[in-house]
Amino acid sequence: MAILIKNQEQIAGIRKSSQIAAQSLNYIAPFVKAGVNTEYLDNLIADYFKQHGAISATLNYNGYPKSSCISPNNVICHGIPSKETILKDGDIVNIDVTTILDGYFGDTSRMFTVGEISEEASDLIEATKHCLNLGIKEVRPENNFGNIGFAISRYAQAKGYSVVYEFCGHGVGVHFHEDPQVDHIARRNSGAVMKPGMIFTIEPMINVGRAKVVVDKKDGWTARTVDSKLSAQFEHTVLVTPDGFEVLTDVNGDY
Ligand code: MF3
Ligand code: CO
Ligand code: CO
Repeated sequence: MAILIKNQEQIAGIRKSSQIAAQSLNYIAPFVKAGVNTEYLDNLIADYFKQHGAISATLNYNGYPKSSCISPNNVICHGIPSKETILKDGDIVNIDVTTILDGYFGDTSRMFTVGEISEEASDLIEATKHCLNLGIKEVRPENNFGNIGFAISRYAQAKGYSVVYEFCGHGVGVHFHEDPQVDHIARRNSGAVMKPGMIFTIEPMINVGRAKVVVDKKDGWTARTVDSKLSAQFEHTVLVTPDGFEVLTDVNGDY
């Protein structure tokens, strides 16, 4: 499938959807505390979407049962919110949300912390956020997609971390997962060429230990690190503009 070039109307729609996804993460932040279960957080996110005229793209997606993915500690991604998963002091947790508003998709995630976290955990979170930002800095017309993964993997590996290669960023906006696949580990100047109007996610998953993913055999979704060490992830939906990029899921003035 070819990489879609979105028109002005589509861009405006995807921007609106992306902003609701991002706002839902601001909304949920004060609820992420020791003692809460992740199903409770998922319900609050679902309510927030409803109040803003959006629906969750993950609910019933290939059988996925919840409105968000909530992935603590050694869970790399696709953690299924559950009453049994109760956050505790020292946890780090990724919350990943994808909205559909007027048929358009916005996809973003970030890390939250519970109480006092270890230095290992806070260093990992900072490095992972920096990886996303290094990737975003590569977004401009005529650059190769591979330079996103090159920038991310060079930094992560220099810090002694590993980069998950079994899950990638993706085109997004008209569908949930579009071409291209955006690798977070790649060779310099490899891959397709970026053009204005392309919209895709960058969502590096960075591990303290080995890169390898193990998907839970029972639920078919929860992706954990093979060595049970920590993993972190940040995700934004990004538009290629004529002179660079626009982060469509930025609601905090970070870019
Ligand atoms: N939001 C995830 C992504 O960034 C996809 C989750 S799919 C689900 O692409 F089914 F696990 F929810
Ligand atoms: Co995504
Ligand atoms: Co996502």
